[in-house]
Amino acid sequence: MKKVLAFDVYGTLIDPHGVVALLQTMVGEQAVSFSSLWRNKQLEYTFRRAAMGGDQYRDFSICTQAALDYADQGLKTALSEAQKTRLLAAYGALPAFTEVAASLRQLRAGGYDCWAFSNGTPAGIAQVLAHAAIDQYMAGVFSVSQVGSFKPAPSVYSAFARQHARGQAAVCVLISSNPFDVIGAKAAGWQAIWVQRTAANIFDPWEYRPDVTISSLGQLWEMIDAS
Ligand code: LAC
Repeated sequence: MKKVLAFDVYGTLIDPHGVVALLQTMVGEQAVSFSSLWRNKQLEYTFRRAAMGGDQYRDFSICTQAALDYADQGLKTALSEAQKTRLLAAYGALPAFTEVAASLRQLRAGGYDCWAFSNGTPAGIAQVLAHAAIDQYMAGVFSVSQVGSFKPAPSVYSAFARQHARGQAAVCVLISSNPFDVIGAKAAGWQAIWVQRTAANIFDPWEYRPDVTISSLGQLWEMIDAS
């Protein structure tokens, strides 16, 4: 069976720090640290909700919203409700990284099925992919919402494999810039390609390593068969 490609969305296809320019107009030179705290808290809330189990699951947008409130309080930026509303709207219109469209186009032309595989809700992912004009290259969207947990819960990876790879974990390939996602995929028996977008991004010291490391999706086509 041909490899089935599962692309993480935020950080891999879409730049979650694409809100920095708007943040600069609101919080000035704290924009980069604000964006970073917002993203880190958003992920922490997903990990905590997954660890707490079933009835603590909420949409990713709830984690994003709560993390925005946390960053605002933590950095004492006193954003107004209107500013928060603008930031959350901007989160739905984040840009794709520049090389992404060409890479997905090439993979699709080569007969690969490229799935969006994300913590986002189906509607949230569809919106951001359409806005970035890369939805046309995807075979479809797999959202954790149907599982009611978040990455890296094993149930998320097994549900994807059941739906899109006839239950064969070994033919699933995760492409992600998020080390926790790569480790989750490897633990589930998948192959995984880590996108190390900058040298400052380090891989967590863990029992699992990525099969392949690339620095941008521009290298994916030549490396896909090495995974
Ligand atoms: C996602 C987050 C983890 O898209 O970036 O699933």
